Amino acid sequence: MDELRVFTGNANPELAARVCKYLGTQPGNIDVCEFNDGETMVKINENIRGVDVFVFQSTFPPAKNLIELLVMLDAAKRASARRVTAVVPYFGYARQDRKDQPRVAITAKLVANLITVAGADRVLTMDLHSPQIQGFFDIPFDHLYAAPVLIDYFQKKNLKDLVIVSPDIGSVKMARAFAKRLGASLVLIDKRRPRADVAEVVNVIGEVEGRDVVILDDLISTAGTTTRAAEALKKKGARRIVAGCTHPVLCGDAVARLGEAPVEQVVVTDTIPHAPEKLISKIEVLSVADLLGEAIRRIHEERSLSSLFV
Ligand code: R5P
Repeated sequence: MDELRVFTGNANPELAARVCKYLGTQPGNIDVCEFNDGETMVKINENIRGVDVFVFQSTFPPAKNLIELLVMLDAAKRASARRVTAVVPYFGYARQDRKDQPRVAITAKLVANLITVAGADRVLTMDLHSPQIQGFFDIPFDHLYAAPVLIDYFQKKNLKDLVIVSPDIGSVKMARAFAKRLGASLVLIDKRRPRADVAEVVNVIGEVEGRDVVILDDLISTAGTTTRAAEALKKKGARRIVAGCTHPVLCGDAVARLGEAPVEQVVVTDTIPHAPEKLISKIEVLSVADLLGEAIRRIHEERSLSSLFV
């Protein structure tokens, strides 16, 4: 079996280091820096001819994270790696995935094209905003779910008469899978967005009175969705309210909003890093490093990933 190397950009080197620890390796020797004018410069400082290379980078804002990913892929390809896999724990620009208004871009497709053209032979990611984005790629694509990590945590929380709440139509499939695994019932929120980044709850569909609830989403950005959902569920008589998501984008006043929301805890993963001082005590961060590490190992060894999907 040929060698495996993981190279990381500056988006989440801590997660990359945890993944490398799982794999029993060190991150590859690479410079990912800037010229004086701010342009990204990448140099791989070791021979990777014939090597199975994994380029590790989430693409949350700023756009420099995406650029670093593309430039690293280009460097790896031009250095004659045998195979280059883009490992993108959080796949940004995914929310614009269709033309739902006149004259808008489909950024998810644009980013898929960029990653492919930059030199990726395959892609590994986690909890895409919509799973159909896989179809925007014509190269092999592995889509992991953080569910095993989150479910394990919720199972230990001693939640009673549990209800999993999907805070909008988009998260129903994810919520249904969690409900099935946790033996819980499913409740749906009819959410509207009068403007981008503004969420309103129109209706709670299902019974939550006297029940413990987990509000589940793929990501929390402004936290408007989670906060409005929690308020509506509280009004309907929910007992304990916990929120969970895979990707903590947490922009603007999101953390303060979550602090004031009627949720006792917000469980997220480390696909997007935050300074510990930014995170309030009710935000619990779980690591998906072992899951990503195991997926990388299996890709390298040409073994099936399906048992990681459940
Ligand atoms: C929407 O379709 C997503 O699944 C999330 O619910 C949404 O992007 C969260 O955004 P925010 O935290 O800004 O309400």
